Amino acid sequence: MPEYTDILTETHGRVGLVRLNRPKAMNALRSQLLAELLDALRAFDADDAIGAMVITGSERAFSAGADIKEMADATAVDLMNRGLSDGWHRISAIRKPIIAAVSGFALGGGCELALLCDLIVASETAQFGQPEITIGVIPGAGGTQRLTRILGKALAMEMVLNNRFLKADEALQHGLVNRVVPVESYLDEALKLAGEIAARAPVAVRLGKEAINKAYELSLAEGLAAEQRAFYLLFSTEDQKEGMSAFVEKRVPVWQGR
Ligand code: HXC
Repeated sequence: MPEYTDILTETHGRVGLVRLNRPKAMNALRSQLLAELLDALRAFDADDAIGAMVITGSERAFSAGADIKEMADATAVDLMNRGLSDGWHRISAIRKPIIAAVSGFALGGGCELALLCDLIVASETAQFGQPEITIGVIPGAGGTQRLTRILGKALAMEMVLNNRFLKADEALQHGLVNRVVPVESYLDEALKLAGEIAARAPVAVRLGKEAINKAYELSLAEGLAAEQRAFYLLFSTEDQKEGMSAFVEKRVPVWQGR
């Protein structure tokens, strides 16, 4: 991995970990940070030794959102020319599963970054919010769409129009996060979950993620057809033969990732 200024990267077995590392700025997502994050995620995505990724911030803040100081004087055309949204789309194109390990504030673009991930492990102190309305704008990296699909219209409206924060237990109750754990263990829990997924049949994991994400894009009929094709495709993998033989032979399968 290259030298980064705004993030730190580590590997834990087959899990690639990215720590957002602008603690003094509450991990505000300036363009440098987003570029480095995307670069690191892509490198992990391309690495056969990695099966899943975790993105985390600090205990106090996963991220307080896009960097307001960087954005404040921008014109609409500046944002377009900078390709402000492109990086976000590229993160959603990462093929291996990404888990957000969230503690403290996940606000604005920070909340949207967590929503772009495939699973979220939250600490008891996590708070999710879209406070853009308080600075005269609205979410710009998927918040209005992804929150509404997950939480429904009523709660999404309160969050986006009236700066309603969701605490960790509410986020769990509404299906925004997978689990809530004490602050001492949220990162370990996320790494453990990522490690478990990373130990599974890689091609099936990738196609499973892709198929579930299609549920947000396609009609039921189209989504079912896509799932069926992915299911058939897996019968051309060595891992499908290995998985089913291992079951019949009562042994643990050994995955090849092909
Ligand atoms: C730039 C930020 C920042 C942000 C915090 N800081 N959030 N800098 N962009 N989003 C900086 C503060 O300026 C301050 O720097 C330092 O981090 C600590 O923050 P404090 O406010 O002093 O801490 P605290 O009182 O604990 O409050 C924490 C907070 C608050 C509740 C998270 O900082 C806050 O409300 N932040 C803004 C949240 C927000 O509006 N996010 C949405 C951004 S718009 P100094 O130098 O003063 O010490 C967005 C759109 C996405 O995300 C669009 C994507 C395309």
